[in-house]
Amino acid sequence: MSHAWTRKDLLTIRELERADLELILETARDFKQRPAAAEARPLAGRTVVNLFVEPSTRTRTSFELAARRLGADVISIDSESSSFRKGETLKDTGQVLEAMHADFVILRHSAAGAPQFLAERLRAHLLNAGDGAHEHPTQALFDTFTMRERFGPDRAWESLHVVICGDILFSRVARSNVWALRKLGARVTLVGPATLVPDVFRELGVEISHDFDAVLPGADVIMLLRIQHERQRRSFFPSVGEYVSLFGLDQRRFERCKPDVLIMHPGPINRGVEIASEVADGPNSTVLDQVENGLVIRMAALKLLDGIA
Ligand code: CP
Repeated sequence: MSHAWTRKDLLTIRELERADLELILETARDFKQRPAAAEARPLAGRTVVNLFVEPSTRTRTSFELAARRLGADVISIDSESSSFRKGETLKDTGQVLEAMHADFVILRHSAAGAPQFLAERLRAHLLNAGDGAHEHPTQALFDTFTMRERFGPDRAWESLHVVICGDILFSRVARSNVWALRKLGARVTLVGPATLVPDVFRELGVEISHDFDAVLPGADVIMLLRIQHERQRRSFFPSVGEYVSLFGLDQRRFERCKPDVLIMHPGPINRGVEIASEVADGPNSTVLDQVENGLVIRMAALKLLDGIA
C-alpha cells in the first residue's frame, strides 16, 4: 500500500481519509497474520501512558497489551487514584506526563473534545480512547476490521447494509462507526426510538428507522448498543420493558434475519435489554472477535503514529 500515514494523533474517524482507514486495517491485518512482526519491538524505548478518566475494561486492557506487545513501557492511570481527585486539570496532568517524557498519551474522558484539547498542547501522540458521546475511533476501526474479516476481502463495502440499533444519540461508538462505514461505502441505517435517533443524523449520509422489525431481514450486520444511562439526564423512553419489546434483539427477531448476519456489540452488554444472551453468545455473534481484533488495531495505530516525528 503506497499511502503514508501523516497524522501526529488519532482523535476521530471523521478527520481520516478512506486511505488512512485502509492503511490502519492493512497494518492490523499484517499483525494478525504475522504475529512475529511485533517481535522486532518497534516501540522499544517509548513510554505509553493510559490516562482513563472514565471506566473501561476492554479499551484500557487492549491498549496496554498492544503497547507492551510492541515493546513500549506502559503506565496506566485512572481518575480515582490520580491527582485529578485533588483538582488537577487535564492540561496540567498532560504537561506532567510530558515532563516525564511520555511519547504517547491514550485518553478516555467524559468530555467530548478532551483528546483534541490535549493533542494541541502536547508533543506526545494522542490517541482518543473514547470522549463523551463524540468518538471512539479505535472501536470503529476494529468493528470494520471484524466485518471485513468475516465477509472476506472480495465482498464490496457498497454491498453491505449495516444496522446500528440503540442509544445512538449518546453513542460515540455509533458516530465513529457511521463515519468509518460511510467513508468505506457501506449503507448504514440507524434504528431506535425517535428520542434517541433524531432525524438530524441523516446529515451523516445514513438512513433512519424507528421500526427494528422492518429493517431486520435486509441487514448484513446488526450492531446493538446499550442504553448509556451515565450520559442521559432524563428519560428517553417510557420503560425498559417497552424498549426491549420494540428494540431488543431476542431469538424470535434473530430468526427473521439473514442466516449469515453478523451480530455485533461493542460491550459492555446489558443482557436481556438490547440483546438476549442466546443471541449474544450464538454463532453469528462477533462480540469476542471484536475484542480480539482490538489488540491488532491498537498495535497498528501505535506503530503508524510512531512513524511520525
Ligand atoms: N467498548 C468499550 O469501549 O468497552 P470498555 O468501556 O470496556 O473499554
